[in-house]
Amino acid sequence: MIGQGYSMIFARSRVILQELNKVLPSTLWSQQLRSGRLAAMASIHSFTHDVFQPPADIMPSNSIDKEAFKKTATIPALKVNKRCIHKVLKAFKMATFSRPRFAVIREVLTNPDEKFFLLDPQNMCDLEAMTERQQSVLKENDVEERLHEYTLELTYKDWQPHEVLQRLLPDSVEVPTGFSRVGHIMHLNLRQAQLEHKKLIGEVLLEKTPGIKTVVNKLNEIDNTYRFFNMECIAGEPDTVVTVKENHVAYSFDFAKVYWNPRLSTEHQRIIEKLHPTDVVYDMFAGVGPFAIPAAKKGCEVHANDLNPESFRWLEVNAKQNKLSSRLKASNLDGRQFAVDIVKPDLITKAKEGFKYKAHIIMNLPAIAVEFLDIFPSLLSLVPSELKDKIPEVVVHCHGFSKSDKPAEDIQSRVEDILKCRLNCPEIHDVRDVAPNKEMMCISFSMPSTILCAPTNGDIGGAGDHQTEHQTEQSGSAEGSESDQDGPAIKKPRTH
Ligand SMILES: C[S@@+](CC[C@H](N)C(=O)[O-])C[C@H]1O[C@@H](n2cnc3c(N)ncnc32)[C@H](O)[C@@H]1O
Repeated sequence: MIGQGYSMIFARSRVILQELNKVLPSTLWSQQLRSGRLAAMASIHSFTHDVFQPPADIMPSNSIDKEAFKKTATIPALKVNKRCIHKVLKAFKMATFSRPRFAVIREVLTNPDEKFFLLDPQNMCDLEAMTERQQSVLKENDVEERLHEYTLELTYKDWQPHEVLQRLLPDSVEVPTGFSRVGHIMHLNLRQAQLEHKKLIGEVLLEKTPGIKTVVNKLNEIDNTYRFFNMECIAGEPDTVVTVKENHVAYSFDFAKVYWNPRLSTEHQRIIEKLHPTDVVYDMFAGVGPFAIPAAKKGCEVHANDLNPESFRWLEVNAKQNKLSSRLKASNLDGRQFAVDIVKPDLITKAKEGFKYKAHIIMNLPAIAVEFLDIFPSLLSLVPSELKDKIPEVVVHCHGFSKSDKPAEDIQSRVEDILKCRLNCPEIHDVRDVAPNKEMMCISFSMPSTILCAPTNGDIGGAGDHQTEHQTEQSGSAEGSESDQDGPAIKKPRTH
């Protein structure tokens, strides 16, 4: 009776095994040990359960003793003929390790036709943990239903950066987790307590992250005009000129001198999808071109501007690199000046030429872009009346931060206050969470021509806040009679 039940018994739990231990005569045990089956079961107790915990005796230090990270672990493994390794891998995917750059298939030194398939003892510490499906895959592929003891030799190179840092940083210092990557640069935002260990942190991340040549730490929030981070190199080459790809377009720039945010790629793509190849685009705060370059690539005529001379320089480099210089004109002006010197004359030219498509104005400077909208009321007030009807439809895409619990309403009302009019069904998009309680929004709306062409006080007497030489020159041909016939109610147009 005992003989009949063997195969079932050995496939069952450790508890049953212990019970058997009590009842089976020692001769039967030794028979089973010889057969190999019991040897597999006996090994249950020796699997290492904390395989990927670095040795506990490593002491916090600012230098890396790689020898100290050596560890030997005993883990379960299936011995599989190489022909069916992929079928077994598929069935046991959930039971193996999922670690970057960790090979779960290893050589069997005594037989080149066989492989060890390593299993995670947390998921498969005995045969009982095997599902029926896994058992039948083993049977179908002639794989012995046995967990071998595999000796895994781990060295420094096998540890993930956070595992190394967990040991080397004092307990009181949190292991940094939030890093982003721009080309070959990894950038961190270290906290006060971590700063003392910045060299160690940089060194570990540099060595353990493929493709990273430079690790930088942000020195403060972006608070300067050009919106880039001040940074210091904490490991690797102090080379901050990168080439990155976003939405299949390559951009080069000096990350230490211009604004670049990899988290905006979806937003860039979203706006590009709104453009038609025949449209004209005015990108007021263009950076190094993540709206402007793809817009030109789509076929649009693009006028891209940035106040930062470095962004302007890279904008031109990127237009050239992407062979788009003929469709993209770059300028290095303040946003309001760009509206007056570039957008305004170009809209007038387009009106004269009978341009029938849309003009998109992109304004991605979320901290203050909304304020720049004050340049648009009356921007075209001096356009001859016969041309006013021919001004192309102007669609504004303006980004803004909001700390309100109703960010959409908040941004719309701020825009309406600046334009002194009610917007007709603007599209408001929540771009991303910037911080707890701070959203980046984008409001897209058709700029009423009545706003653009509204007469200024200057048209009937004096110049306003943003009067420029350009406008002053034209003031002789001022058109002051047309205002808000068919558009939204103009509350009180600002003057230029
Ligand atoms: C938030 S970044 C956006 C850059 C780019 N459009 C993007 O999506 O990555 C804003 C850009 O506006 C530029 N900028 C800041 N103040 C400006 C101003 N008054 N006039 C024109 N550009 C300005 C900065 O140099 C920066 O490149």
